[in-house]
Amino acid sequence: MKTMQQVSFSRHEIEAEASRLHEKLRHLKFGLAECMAFAPYTLEINLLKKEKNAVILAHNYQRPEIIYGVADFTADSLALSKAAQTTDADMIVFCGVHFMAETAKILNPSKKVLLPDLEAGCSLSESITAKDVRELKKKFPGVPVVTYVNTSAEVKAESDVVCTSANATKIVNAMDSDTVIFLPDEFMAKNLESKTSKKIISWSGKCIVHEQFTEEQIISYKKTYPGLKVLVHTECTPAVVKHADMAGSTSQMQKYVESTSAKQLMLVTECGMADMLKAKHPEKDFIAPCIICPYMKKNHLENILASLREGKFEIKIEENVRKKAFKAVQRMLDLS
Ligand code: 13P
Ligand code: SF4
Repeated sequence: MKTMQQVSFSRHEIEAEASRLHEKLRHLKFGLAECMAFAPYTLEINLLKKEKNAVILAHNYQRPEIIYGVADFTADSLALSKAAQTTDADMIVFCGVHFMAETAKILNPSKKVLLPDLEAGCSLSESITAKDVRELKKKFPGVPVVTYVNTSAEVKAESDVVCTSANATKIVNAMDSDTVIFLPDEFMAKNLESKTSKKIISWSGKCIVHEQFTEEQIISYKKTYPGLKVLVHTECTPAVVKHADMAGSTSQMQKYVESTSAKQLMLVTECGMADMLKAKHPEKDFIAPCIICPYMKKNHLENILASLREGKFEIKIEENVRKKAFKAVQRMLDLS
């Protein structure tokens, strides 16, 4: 931890905070000493939040010390968008990736939206530009464009409607057309084919995390752990999704975990998901052949503190683009 503390806390305050953190983090094998190191940061971040009337929205993949130390709300992309739209706070610190912070700004432009590290990108978002969408629209005139939320504001602005992994099937089925352009996740588009009678025109974007899971892995884990329930994110390949007991968004995975009596669960997604759930459900056994998303892990307590102190890095979107993107995002919210 390199950032210099600007507020000093008493030994008693630090010990009390470390013990609060340890209550959750001990399930992830964090020791009291690590919680003592986190404590001055979480204390100062929580103080600054009050001072600045800021809210911290965190995606389910964020580090556990963020989720259990400073986040006000933790969820999937859809629920985070709704929280960003309805918050009373003046400032939103987004602990997630760039497209998520941008979606918050699209929906709630009067708020100051901060992302602690501008390098927190996404391979799906980087796979497509607004020009690519314009060319597709020329090639397939009149075909509605359904765009996954993991895209830039400029790409959303060229789209008819946005969707997330939680509502992709519903949104595609709601389109008044037999054919739909679905961008940019190629595997999610393929997974949708079995859920809809519509013809889907897809793009070649992939998530660098979810593309790595294999069918062989799932088969082998199922053999080792009989009775294992397999939860898969729909950014995975259809070959992997085929073996799922449940496939969907990260918050849908959480709901499944909370409603099942199964004790052994395999989470085929980014590592943070199992960490978040292990702390909430220490009675369950999470088998996680997990892979880290380097973008999601750009956020940590030091840069969240710097973000709150210095107001960086502020998300700005050109108003014309924002208004067009807003229409596509709001249409998703109205349909779901
Ligand atoms: P969720 O909306 O399911 O949380 O997914 C976001 C994401 O980026 C998954 O990789
Ligand atoms: Fe993007 Fe994949 Fe990381 Fe999610 S896990 S932010 S889809 S690269």
